[in-house]
Amino acid sequence: MSANKVHIFDTTLRDGEQVPGCKLNTKEKVELALKLEALGVDIIEAGFPISSPGDFESVSQISAVIKNATVCGLTRAVQKDIEVAAEALKGATRPRIHTGIGSSDNHIKYKFNSTREEILERAVAAVKLARNFVPDVEFYAEDAGRADLEFLARLAEAVIAAGATVVNVPDTTGFCLPHQYAEKMAYLVNNVKNIDKAILSCHCHNDLGLATANSIAGAIAGARQIECTINGIGERAGNTSLEEVVMTIKKHPELNLYTGIDATQLLPMSRLVSETMRMVVQPNKAVVGDNAFSHSSGIHQDGFLKEATTYEIIAPEEVGADTSKIVLTARSGRSALAYRFKNLGYEFNRDDVDTLYGCFLKVADSKKEVKDEDLKALAETHLQVHA
Ligand code: KIV
Ligand code: ZN
Repeated sequence: MSANKVHIFDTTLRDGEQVPGCKLNTKEKVELALKLEALGVDIIEAGFPISSPGDFESVSQISAVIKNATVCGLTRAVQKDIEVAAEALKGATRPRIHTGIGSSDNHIKYKFNSTREEILERAVAAVKLARNFVPDVEFYAEDAGRADLEFLARLAEAVIAAGATVVNVPDTTGFCLPHQYAEKMAYLVNNVKNIDKAILSCHCHNDLGLATANSIAGAIAGARQIECTINGIGERAGNTSLEEVVMTIKKHPELNLYTGIDATQLLPMSRLVSETMRMVVQPNKAVVGDNAFSHSSGIHQDGFLKEATTYEIIAPEEVGADTSKIVLTARSGRSALAYRFKNLGYEFNRDDVDTLYGCFLKVADSKKEVKDEDLKALAETHLQVHA
């Protein structure tokens, strides 16, 4: 059976940019969009054109330079939003309008003071209007994670009939468990009569740390688009992380899924976004964190030095990282110490390493990490004493 493509919809420049204090200017957004295209993302959500003149300008300039990826602009299910987005996307080779409205009873009552029937009508009208401008219209059922299943299915069927090419099922509040999100997708696959005319999309937030797990569960259940951001940045606890989704799919061929992402650009892309947004990536971040390829405990280091796959399921070069790191701490063992001495040009025999190890532990107990300078000092002292 041939593998199924999962389209990668990057929303770093829209949902990602909603991180407090991380505003990007148009020039930075255009530069990032070009890098995202080179990375291989299928859709770039470039902004929310009606939200500000700056965002309009960014969507417009990105539309002018991106040639292969689809460029998408967000709107509410509001006529003016859709008209402005269409205007901003005018120069795009492949424009997409992303429109939508709240779908949970919570949103319908508290945000819209409305009813399910009215919401359905507004959703259909918004999709029809958007289709007058572009052939590719994505509909988001905001807070679908907490929406009633039957209503969600009715809404999906109605917007597809109105011309939606993609139906986005956002877990806006990051509430779902992976099996619940998968069940939601499977229900739509099995109960929406015209589902073959649209792609289902996962858009998961990370409030419970489940965004990646939920997106993968959604794809296994039939979704063929995942919405994500570089480094998982975004509103509150963030969005699904692009690099985690891509590497999970790559590392599990049994899922029979693939993406068009060039994984070797993941680390450079992560660093670029981190620097441009002045937002530090947590060291233990999966795939791209500083410690993702560091080994510090003696047991792990010993195994890793015998055979890297004992403790690494991703080789650093697969994601564009230099090499794995052997970090020396008080938990490190003799084999790691000998390895690091060797890298510094010191070939010690087993007895030397035994002696040096005692001295090393004294230094390690007083420091978080023993650096090259400390090792050189230890080696030189040892050589002088044992000359
Ligand atoms: O989280 C969400 O529901 C969204 C929509 C606007 C797609 O970001
Ligand atoms: Zn979102």
